[in-house]
Amino acid sequence: MRVQPDDHGETALEPQPAMMTGFGNHFATEALPGALPIGRNSPQRPAFGLYAEQLSGTAFTMARAENRRSWLYRLRPSASHPAYALARDAADAGQPAGPNRLRWDPRPLPETPTNFHDSILPMLWNGDADAMTGVTFSTYACTASMGNQAFFSADGEMLVIPEQGGLILFTEMGVIDLEPLQIALIPRGVRYRVALKGAAARGYLCENHGAPFRLPDLGPIGSNGLANPRDFETPHAWFEDRDEPFELIQKFGGRLWTTTLDHSPFDVVAWHGNLAPVRYDLRHFNTLGSISFDHPDPSIFTVLTSPSDTPGRANADFVIFPPRWLVAEDTFRPPWFHRNLMSEAMGLIAGAYDAKADGFAPGGISLHNRMSAHGPDVASWRAATDAVLAPQKIADTMAFMVETALPWRVTDWAMARAQPGYDAVWDGIPKARIG
Ligand SMILES: [Fe+2]
Repeated sequence: MRVQPDDHGETALEPQPAMMTGFGNHFATEALPGALPIGRNSPQRPAFGLYAEQLSGTAFTMARAENRRSWLYRLRPSASHPAYALARDAADAGQPAGPNRLRWDPRPLPETPTNFHDSILPMLWNGDADAMTGVTFSTYACTASMGNQAFFSADGEMLVIPEQGGLILFTEMGVIDLEPLQIALIPRGVRYRVALKGAAARGYLCENHGAPFRLPDLGPIGSNGLANPRDFETPHAWFEDRDEPFELIQKFGGRLWTTTLDHSPFDVVAWHGNLAPVRYDLRHFNTLGSISFDHPDPSIFTVLTSPSDTPGRANADFVIFPPRWLVAEDTFRPPWFHRNLMSEAMGLIAGAYDAKADGFAPGGISLHNRMSAHGPDVASWRAATDAVLAPQKIADTMAFMVETALPWRVTDWAMARAQPGYDAVWDGIPKARIG
C-alpha cells in the first residue's frame, strides 16, 4: 500500500493486510501491483524504475539452510547518501566483567519528551560487535514518537521486548504493531523508526551481535512445541513517498553515526526473501515441563537461540518464564539454586517471578554472571519448602532471560544505579540440620 504523510507530517497508518506467517520463510510482497519482479532478482529495468537491492544477513557463501537475504525494490538506492559524521557514543566504556550479582529497579519515564531511539540506555554487554559475538542488553523509556528519523544497527539484529505501552515499528520492509507480551525481531541493517501508541512506553532491547536468532532444535520433543513457526508474523511491504529531510542514524562499532537524506528511506515498494522483521506473541509459546518430578533446565523455555561456533553453547538464548502449571511431585518447584557456565540477565514483563518475592519489579533487571551462585530468595525458598504440593497454576506472569556464553559487562551508567545490597536476599537461609 502507498501511504502519504498527513497534515502533521506523520504517516497515517491505514489498515494493513493480514501479516505473513512463519519464521525464516521465503516471503514475497509488494505494495504496488507489478513492482516485484517475477522469476528473477535484478532485471535490467525493474518495474516503475525501482532500484533492486540485496540485503545480506549472512555471508554470500553460507550454506543454503543458513543463508539469509532479501531483495528490496525501492524508490532510491540506499547507496545514495552523504557522508556520515560521528554523532555520539552509543555505549560508555563500561566496567570489566565481574562476578557480583546485581539487580536494578525499573527506570522512570523521562520528564521531558524523549523518543524511543534517544531513550535507549545500554545496561549490559559482552563480546565484540566487530567480531560478531555477544549481546548488548538495553532498556528504553520514551514519551514521544520519532519524527523524520530512521535508525538501523550494523552491529546486530534488535530484539524489542515491550514491558509497558504499545509501539508502532515502521520498518523499511513493513509496519509492525507491537504490544507488551509480544516481541519483535528487526534484522541487522533494516532501518526503522518507532511511534508510540499511547503516552509512554518502556521495555528492553537485546541487540544480538552474533549469528541470527533462530528457533532451537527440538530433539526428542519432536516436531511441535515451544515457539511454533506458524506463530511468527512478518508484515507486508509498505512505503512512504516523502521528499523532505530525514535523519538517518546508524550504530556502527558501538557508536552512533548520523547523516541527513532529502527523502524518507522508507521507500521499499516491494521485496522478497527470508531476511525480514518478525513479530511473535509470547502467549503462543507452548510451555513444556515436568509431569512427574523435578523440572527441566530452563533451556526448555527457549524461544530463540543464537548459536556460537561451538555447537550447543549459544552466543545467546532468549528464554521466557510464562504462565504454567506446576504439578511435579516431591519437588522443589521454583528454579533451584545454581551456578551456571552461562551468564544470565533477566527482565520482567508482567506480574511476579516465582523465585523472587520482591525487589524484582516489571521493568527491572537482574544479573547473574558466569558461575555466580543464585536461586530463589529466602521468602520464596521458605514458601516452596513449606508448600503442600497440590497442582498450582503460576498465572499472570512473564519473565525472560537472555543467557549468553560470555560474561556480561556492566556499563558505568548501570553500575551507578544498581540496587544496594542485593546479596542480602539470600541472607537468613538456615543451615541444614546435620546433627
Ligand atoms: Fe539462573
